[in-house]
Amino acid sequence: MGGTVIATSRKNREHLKVLLRQNAIQKRIAEMAQQIKRDFKGERVHLIGVLKGACIFLADLIRKMDTDVSIDFMAVASYGKGRQTSGQVRLYKDLDMSIEGMNVILVEDILDTGLTLSYLYRILKQRKPKSLRIAALLDKPSRRVKEVKADYVGFTIPNEFVVGYGLDYAERYRNLKDVCILSLPPE
Ligand code: IMP
Ligand code: MG
Repeated sequence: MGGTVIATSRKNREHLKVLLRQNAIQKRIAEMAQQIKRDFKGERVHLIGVLKGACIFLADLIRKMDTDVSIDFMAVASYGKGRQTSGQVRLYKDLDMSIEGMNVILVEDILDTGLTLSYLYRILKQRKPKSLRIAALLDKPSRRVKEVKADYVGFTIPNEFVVGYGLDYAERYRNLKDVCILSLPPE
């Protein structure tokens, strides 16, 4: 974990501080890929990325998995434009294919209140996968409202608003290679 201010923008009102550097992220994802491989003993795994935040994590994770892998995506939104969750999850895009009988892993960027993943877990469970697990790159357990446990967690982080590596603030910063803490002026 680092502590340098790496960028400012919007007339110096938004500050980014590195929390997780790209090397540490890549190393941890390689470990997660190995753990998944061991758990499924070479069986095919179907990864479902939650758009948009998880797309970069999913792309790196599957390239570190040298087993039989397929992917699909769902799109949901629970956050509005800012930092507060609306408390409601809306499904914008459903899966392209059936998951019946498959080993499914839901892949999320961050597990925060748990509203998104508990909703997705519930609707996917009804579709009769052989197994259903959750992989989250980041976990903010202190913010949990719904009880959800991820089977694979990259990093447990403190209660800070983070951006980068797929995570956004009002659709910006997804392209940062590091995960950074975003400080904003009071709303
Ligand atoms: P949950 O439903 O509260 O668990 O939140 C999950 C979603 O909220 C994530 O997929 C993110 O899109 C968003 N989110 C939660 N915390 C953060 C954060 O610190 N930065 C950016 N997005 C976040
Ligand atoms: Mg998201």
